[in-house]
Amino acid sequence: KNTENQMLVIFGASGDLTARKLVPALYNLYESGHLPKNFVVLGASRSDLSDEDFRKKVVLESKYLTDKIKDKNRDGIQKFAEMFFYEDLGKDYDVDYTPLRKRVGDLNDEKGTEGNIMYYLSTPPTLYETIAKNLADAGLSTQNNGWKRLIVEKPFGYSLETAKALNKGLQQHFSESQIYRIDHYLGKETVQNLLVTRFANSIFEPLWNRNYIDHIEITNAESVGVEKRGGYYDKSGALRDMFQNHLLQIVSLIVMEPPIGDGAEEIRNEKVKALKSLRVMKDEKTLHDHTIRAQYMASEINGEKVKGYREEEGVDPESTTETYAAIKFFVDNWRWKDVPFYVRTAKRMPTKVTEVVIHFKTPHHQIFKESGIHSKDNKLIIRIQPDEGILIKFGVKVPGQGFKVERANLDFYYSSLVETRVMEAYERLLLDAMQGDATLYARADEVEAAWEFVDPILDYWQKGKDVRMYGYPSGTWGPTNADDLIEGIGFWRNPGE
Ligand code: BG6
Repeated sequence: KNTENQMLVIFGASGDLTARKLVPALYNLYESGHLPKNFVVLGASRSDLSDEDFRKKVVLESKYLTDKIKDKNRDGIQKFAEMFFYEDLGKDYDVDYTPLRKRVGDLNDEKGTEGNIMYYLSTPPTLYETIAKNLADAGLSTQNNGWKRLIVEKPFGYSLETAKALNKGLQQHFSESQIYRIDHYLGKETVQNLLVTRFANSIFEPLWNRNYIDHIEITNAESVGVEKRGGYYDKSGALRDMFQNHLLQIVSLIVMEPPIGDGAEEIRNEKVKALKSLRVMKDEKTLHDHTIRAQYMASEINGEKVKGYREEEGVDPESTTETYAAIKFFVDNWRWKDVPFYVRTAKRMPTKVTEVVIHFKTPHHQIFKESGIHSKDNKLIIRIQPDEGILIKFGVKVPGQGFKVERANLDFYYSSLVETRVMEAYERLLLDAMQGDATLYARADEVEAAWEFVDPILDYWQKGKDVRMYGYPSGTWGPTNADDLIEGIGFWRNPGE
């Protein structure tokens, strides 16, 4: 696809995300020849930096590019750095953007970026609307001379109400087709591959429904704790930080009906329908029985002491924010009626892994009496990360007399596709937005539908009577009480065990 000449204006450019994610992604695009001929990055922030300072900070002396700076020719990185400029916004983001407009105009004339501008909001979310408004007031959102797009980082809202207000606020200044809500999980190859697994194969989709699927399990585990983000995390928690966005995105791709084509609106229409069909939990009993929250506790992992969540920097010592969430739910539509979904996400687990397990039903008549394997043993395991790939578990006959059945694996690893370099999530998503492809970005109604499902759970956890907060030792698979959720079905599949 064609990437038009353009300028990327990053708000909050002196923050961590720019150096850690955006610039390395841009560097990869630069190296692989994906950047347009005329390309400018203008960092805008409240820090007092010169162009040269900014280049040093995010490129030339960036610890996130060390290997490139060391190993590759200096010329390349120098040329890359020369695309970067910086504009100090002063004390506040809520100022008149006329000086910014002047700078953008000058750079545009000098570098030939043809009036095409991508604004990337990497600031605290409370500033999104302010920035959008100030851009519009300064005439920087109109598209009569080149396109203007706005990328918004997560978190997108704090609840259904705030997400709706934010959508409304942004849409006053930019049209929906100009707004790109980033969810970096959609940039992951394996997440996109859910669509291909389902809709480019005739061996899976016919089974992809309540007639053949017993239940679906999704695990998202991280071994790290909240790291240096205690302050942010304590106001967020696992449900807002991971479930509302990344995990419900995965759910929507599993649940959705086949789109009529691969266009952005065609796919997103089906995702919205899928999210709207999740059964919203309304009564306290269901909320009590189908949701579990917990916090990690101090522990020793490989001889090293790790802090409990409540001792982390920036975290309230009496915090009731969850670092673990497990939710059971149903999907009210023709395809999924009565099929339970079990989704859990947590920090400080034994390992970092995200996987989807499709558990198929037992064959309706058991012929092989001495089968020896668990009856629900047909599984399709989609490894989102790491060891990206797909594993199918099925029964085979044990050689010899009789019909003893044992489990066998068919296993595909993405790494076996040696020829292909897999793009990083941010790299892929940035490139898509630069080319005007919003397929992998969340639409307003999608985000709102996800909040609609999550809101009552958050509300119940905050205000419900006798809502337990379990503890789990860091480095374990979470509270054993979470097994109750999945009771009658078996146990959570703990990858690697
Ligand atoms: C982010 C969350 O969105 O996703 C973090 O804010 C989390 O808390 C991260 O660590 C996980 O992303 P990944 O790609 O490492 O699974």
